[in-house]
Amino acid sequence: MLERIDYDERQHAVYSAGRALSPESARLWSGVFARWAGPARPLTALDLGSGTGRFTPLLAEAFGGPVYGVEPSERMREQAAVHPNVQYLAGSAEAIPLPDRSCDVVVLFLVLHHVADRAAAAAEISRVLRPGGRLLIRSTFPDRMPDLLWHRFIPGARRVEQQIFPTLAEVTGLFELAGLSVAGLERVRETTATDPAAYARRLRLRAISTFEHLSDDEIERGFAALDAAIAAGDVTGPITSDCDLLVLEAGPRDRGER
Ligand SMILES: C[S@@+](CC[C@H](N)C(=O)[O-])C[C@H]1O[C@@H](n2cnc3c(N)ncnc32)[C@H](O)[C@@H]1O
Repeated sequence: MLERIDYDERQHAVYSAGRALSPESARLWSGVFARWAGPARPLTALDLGSGTGRFTPLLAEAFGGPVYGVEPSERMREQAAVHPNVQYLAGSAEAIPLPDRSCDVVVLFLVLHHVADRAAAAAEISRVLRPGGRLLIRSTFPDRMPDLLWHRFIPGARRVEQQIFPTLAEVTGLFELAGLSVAGLERVRETTATDPAAYARRLRLRAISTFEHLSDDEIERGFAALDAAIAAGDVTGPITSDCDLLVLEAGPRDRGER
């Protein structure tokens, strides 16, 4: 069992720089979220595990309604991007500080693998979603693990991610038990960096929690191998990565049920 990562310790200091969204990526995700949320507007959204608010203002723009960013790390929250329709709250997936049936959309973007009690989180998400509301989960599923460039240079990272991320069946089973059903699964191709040198610079910030599970020696060897491959012309062009988005829908609830 790998240790849980507390973003108040190190990741908060590098996250904004190392994971900044390019305007193209912001447009890409905004379009993906808008498509899966359906046509009604305005919508109330919850960015659960909102971190530094990479997506929170973008959700307010896409959906036109109030957006809540719920985040346990104080140091991530205090950097969060300001927007007039966004309110950031201390909380976690296991204890969401919002009323029952208050949200049309919940976004969990690279968060589920950090959640200690996933059954409690599924029950909480089901509680805050309105009937017909949607949960958009961006995660990595070990059974659909994409071929990521940095994994080729730091193979231990792939092994770590095989362990920390729940499988697609685990995630769908978890939410089905909480009363949601699968509405879709999309593979989204995102441009991570426009050129290899920019990719290497960004990776060196280690703004991916997987790095916390690896030794400095292994990481530095990987960076050196990546630099050598770039210098040799073996890594070219924009760097893209394939990401999975799983969409679940809250079912109608019987009267008397929460
Ligand atoms: C990889 S970051 C993603 C942040 C943001 N969603 C984004 O994509 O930029 C993971 C975030 O999940 C938060 N997190 C960790 N445990 C959590 C929990 N139990 N409930 C909600 N968020 C959690 C971390 O503090 C961190 O901010």
